[in-house]
Amino acid sequence: MQEKYNQGMLRDNALEGKVIAITGGGTGLGRSMGEYFLRLGARLAICGRREEKLKQASAEMEKEFGGEVFYTSCDVRNYEEVEAFRDKILNHFGKVDVLLNNAAGNFISPAERLSPGAFDAVIDIVLKGSKNCTLAFGKHWIENKQTNKVVLNIVTTYAETGSAFVVPSAMAKAGVTAMTRSLAVEWAKYGIRFNAIAPGPFPTKGAWSRLLPGNIAEKLNVEQEVPLRRAGEHQELANLAAYLVSDFAAYMNGEVVIIDGGEWLQGAGQMNFLEVVTPDMWDWIEKATRGSKE
Ligand code: HXC
Ligand code: NAP
Repeated sequence: MQEKYNQGMLRDNALEGKVIAITGGGTGLGRSMGEYFLRLGARLAICGRREEKLKQASAEMEKEFGGEVFYTSCDVRNYEEVEAFRDKILNHFGKVDVLLNNAAGNFISPAERLSPGAFDAVIDIVLKGSKNCTLAFGKHWIENKQTNKVVLNIVTTYAETGSAFVVPSAMAKAGVTAMTRSLAVEWAKYGIRFNAIAPGPFPTKGAWSRLLPGNIAEKLNVEQEVPLRRAGEHQELANLAAYLVSDFAAYMNGEVVIIDGGEWLQGAGQMNFLEVVTPDMWDWIEKATRGSKE
């Protein structure tokens, strides 16, 4: 059977009529998800700190996929800028239906080497930024009694488990997960759904340059850490995101969906290290374990 994971999954125009705001939508996974939303008929509003990057991304996306990509620079750490981002979208499109909290900052480091400012650099983008956007967009929807709205948060698998060497990111993503589940309940009465996606390794320049700098990626062989022995394709993530923001997912609320080829479970199972055992060794082990009752 031909592999289908590089193909779009939803039917044509599945997101027609929706206005989708994506933080960090000019690069990496934010851009890939945005491109698929565009193909499905949505209109986009993207933000980030670097206006030039956004301008270029918006022009390229419109050229390749048609539709409309509104862009404006906005630092999600600053609540006033987030309100301005929201208001510019409202001026431009007249409404906003989906908020995709995708912007993030991260790098690897032993925690004891980090200054307080280094912790804040990551926590402020991820946790405070997601809070700022959620509050600004949510208040608008609630005050104006607008329903059928969606917030989708991009977290990580280690938001659940914690992880050494990315402590600020793990703390911040755990907070975003808690916000997702808390508001899924509290704001359901206002017609706002909350879900999150926890991606495994999906190669992007932003993540790879900070988490696997230099030739670490080749040395570590990241694919080996994944039971399916490959990294994720951006289209696979885009398919899941498009479903979760679409009306087809109207009964999905408060869910954190992991899409990682089984990576985090490989790290978790106590006996998973036995993957290295050869058939000859298994013969010996079988004999030894069968004989153990004597
Ligand atoms: C130690 C560091 C550091 C490093 C910065 N700092 N980089 N400390 N090791 N590698 C310290 C600085 O010395 C400074 O400390 C403080 O952090 C702020 O640094 P700035 O450079 O001023 O920060 P800023 O310009 O705000 O940039 C934020 C950033 C940067 C997070 C450091 O990398 C960034 O802009 N990232 C955005 C994109 C990104 O990270 N994408 C990857 C997401 S991947 P002082 O003491 O002077 O204050 C991801 C994947 C997760 O999340 C899961 C993968 C499987
Ligand atoms: P990326 O390309 O570096 O994306 C990060 C984006 O966030 C950039 O566009 C960046 O733009 C924006 N951003 C950073 N700080 C900002 C701020 N203060 N205000 C507004 N925008 C800001 O990395 P990525 O890999 O695509 O990551 C996207 C999301 O996926 C993140 O939430 C990340 O944690 C998550 N994730 C990625 C992976 C992976 O394997 N790639 C795995 C798990 C989770 P500017 O620099 O211009 O501001």
